[in-house]
Amino acid sequence: MKAENRFSVSPEETEKQKEYTHLAGELLETKYGGRPLAFIHTYGCQGNVSDSEYLKGMLEEIGYGFTEKLEEADLILYNTCAIREHAEDRVFGNVGALKNLKMQKRGMRIALCGCMMQQPRIAEKIRKSYPFVDIVFGTHVMHRLPEIIYRSLSTGKKVFEIPDSDGVVPEGMPVKRDSGFKAWLPIMYGCNNFCSYCIVPYVKGRERSRDPEIILREARQLVSEGYKEITLLGQNINSYGREPDYGYDFPRLLREINDIPGDFIIRFMTSHPKDCSAELLDTMASCEKVAKHLHLPFQSGCDRVLKAMNRGYTAEKYLSLIDYAYKVMPDLSITADVIVGFPGETYEEFTQTVDLVKKAGFTSMFTFIYSPREGTKAAEMDDPVSAEEKGKWFRELLAVQEQIAAERTAGSVGRTFRVLCEREGKNGVLLRPVKIEVEARRRFVPNHADILPGVCGKAYRTAFRRTI
Ligand code: SAH
Ligand code: SF4
Ligand code: F3S
Repeated sequence: MKAENRFSVSPEETEKQKEYTHLAGELLETKYGGRPLAFIHTYGCQGNVSDSEYLKGMLEEIGYGFTEKLEEADLILYNTCAIREHAEDRVFGNVGALKNLKMQKRGMRIALCGCMMQQPRIAEKIRKSYPFVDIVFGTHVMHRLPEIIYRSLSTGKKVFEIPDSDGVVPEGMPVKRDSGFKAWLPIMYGCNNFCSYCIVPYVKGRERSRDPEIILREARQLVSEGYKEITLLGQNINSYGREPDYGYDFPRLLREINDIPGDFIIRFMTSHPKDCSAELLDTMASCEKVAKHLHLPFQSGCDRVLKAMNRGYTAEKYLSLIDYAYKVMPDLSITADVIVGFPGETYEEFTQTVDLVKKAGFTSMFTFIYSPREGTKAAEMDDPVSAEEKGKWFRELLAVQEQIAAERTAGSVGRTFRVLCEREGKNGVLLRPVKIEVEARRRFVPNHADILPGVCGKAYRTAFRRTI
């Protein structure tokens, strides 16, 4: 086991941030009196949602309260995503709309952080074209938010803090969780895979695992606080503990979390097919607290495209992996991501993706049209197919998957599932067996997706969201 690695934030740095928390708090008192309010909006993946919970934790310690109303806010913080152009366009649109608000409210600060801001060209665009933005910080300095807020409050000047870095593993940050019974638990950060279309490795840095002892301590703490669902997070979670001399890998971590006494569910994402081993699937099967749900993006069903994407597996390897997964977990729900219209993909190659989808039996699938990301390899490739044509393929694939999802979910009628009740009884959250006797709806996916409110009659109306 390795407690220290080259990515660890030093204890001195952590101590320094505590001092800044205190200093920034004092400044808040004198500047705003009372309790200033922060509005936080998160774009992107679960990793970002989790990061925002830490950002909120730090802001709360400084002395901020929170609001859902933009116009009430003294601090607006957008935690951004860079995964597709559309995600970035939405951020630019929403930031632009803050200009008037900022003019009306003196002392208000606008801050942007997250993956989009880690790209130098974006930070530059914000500096030039959005002069009313006060604070921009990248993904590797999130834990230094107290210092960043202090500098902004004490100087009144812009703070742009976007160091280039392989990344850090911050520990000891306070956290303000959105839910009292579902918790994110990041176990690793960054990605080393460099899929040719993807911006993540450039903005999130190198793969780095958190110390297993810290993870296990946090998991025990969550269980003792009554959390019923713990979702382990990592961009490529199967490579947890790959660092030299770690002595821990993902299956072992999963088993040890499963061994924590208590009634709770463990989820994890995202798995990469090239690192998803039979050992992991066997571990899932044997750990009774692990939800029988696997999110396993395949991206394409065509070997040439998979190679150009740098994914490291073939369509056949993917199918044999999920065959094994269904064999050891017959009730398994598999979900996936797929990209339509990768540069140079032909219609014939796209039909191989359709074939894979027909064979795989996903309970649901996230389908994306390829979006070029500056700085990635794929952005340099020829991309002759029109957006209109890609749109047609996209709709064709959705129709195929809809049919498959409908068939899979129809099988849930009359079966009994254990569900996580979100609003049941006086004593908070309960895990209870509930018989599902209603007509299956398309969005009802055993072991995985949301259940529509009201499907289970009076007692459980709006009471639960997920089966386990
Ligand atoms: N780490 C995860 C996924 C991260 S991004 C994994 O490897 O599976 C989530 C999804 O966004 C990806 O699975 C992919 O399907 C999609 N995606 C990533 N980059 C994209 C791009 N440039 N254009 C379209 N979709 C993209
Ligand atoms: Fe992106 Fe690939 Fe890493 Fe996932 S594994 S984050 S798709 S580079
Ligand atoms: Fe987006 Fe960054 Fe997540 S680019 S998908 S917020 S890792």
